[in-house]
Amino acid sequence: MLPLCIALVGMYVSAAEKYDTKAFRVVTKLCTPCHGTPFYMAKQIDEDDWEYFFETPGKLEKIHKGKPKALSAFKNNLFKHKKKRILKFFINNSKFSGSVHGCDANFCGTHH
Ligand code: HEC
Repeated sequence: MLPLCIALVGMYVSAAEKYDTKAFRVVTKLCTPCHGTPFYMAKQIDEDDWEYFFETPGKLEKIHKGKPKALSAFKNNLFKHKKKRILKFFINNSKFSGSVHGCDANFCGTHH
């Protein structure tokens, strides 16, 4: 009986936390106006590219040169504090991750 309980609790937890909603909200606020919904954005590139763009110093700033709105997003404390989690969110939902999202309170299909 105990293993079954553990399995059920495990399922409940993974269903409740399919993705990082905090990272999702920060991306929606800072990146979506230009990049589309966070899930759509995540799907554009693969996990190696996400790592490359996030972990090469100055890379994000360089790509967005001349786009003050984007540059201020990278300076925003919300982004700075959540950068690791945001990268993880993008990787978990990246091009070849195979993850597809249904409807929930934050997100209901792509708005693209
Ligand atoms: C003002 C509009 C704008 C905002 C805001 C913005 N970006 Fe971008 N971003 C762009 C544009 C335009 C490109 C494409 C540049 C190119 O292809 O040469 C781009 C490219 C990128 C790329 C390179 C990969 C790709 O898809 O082309 C990454 C990674 C990226 N942005 C991340 C972010 C993140 C993370 C945020 C939010 C914190 C963000 N951007 C906010 C406009 C924006």
